[in-house]
Amino acid sequence: MVESKKDPFRIAVLISGRGSNMIALHEAIARGEVGARIECVISSSSTAAGVGWAQNHGLPVHVVDFKSFADEASLAAHLIGLLQQHGVQLVVLAGFLKKIPDDMVRAFANRIINIHPALLPAFGGQGMYGRHVHAAVLEYGCKVSGATVHIVTHEYDAGPPVLQECLQVRDEDTPETLAARILKVEHRLLPKAVDLFARDRIRISGRRVKILKN
Ligand code: GRF
Repeated sequence: MVESKKDPFRIAVLISGRGSNMIALHEAIARGEVGARIECVISSSSTAAGVGWAQNHGLPVHVVDFKSFADEASLAAHLIGLLQQHGVQLVVLAGFLKKIPDDMVRAFANRIINIHPALLPAFGGQGMYGRHVHAAVLEYGCKVSGATVHIVTHEYDAGPPVLQECLQVRDEDTPETLAARILKVEHRLLPKAVDLFARDRIRISGRRVKILKN
């Protein structure tokens, strides 16, 4: 019997910079490890390195200048319009530095995820991005750090964790070496989380995100 092919799970990836998590996700999809398709990439910057990469790989890219909107509601309406136009089922923030407008969080409740390079709720929140995160982890003297994929809510980095993975901090670590090791973890964790959503294996109850067995 010929099995009917199911439509792939449709995702949008939002970036602001180099886009290595987007690339890792794209590659994991190409290897057949994630049952999803990147329908579009939205970048908050026209000069983000990830924009060129996405265009070269045939992904539809929308650059959205957050500052050009009169208010948050019109920005949200624009973003929601783009996502609906592409039939997006899950929004993936991959190094996206802007705050997601409240109307969009409501419209895509529990369907926006973000990757953060630390073990939330430690070392998250506004201003905690890139090198700042790893410098703060080392400054505090932490012995472990890691990566968190979490659901996006109205507050920066405060939504329920979906997946977390930790690694040991080394005595000789600098923010750069720690960032590089954590980035490798991120590149595995984000595709894994997207695949769980694509396979409808995620159940959210309060702050507990439960993963259904295969
Ligand atoms: C990653 O470390 C991610 O955790 C954080 O921003 C960084 C983005 O890197 N949110 P890239 O643009 O995916 O290379």
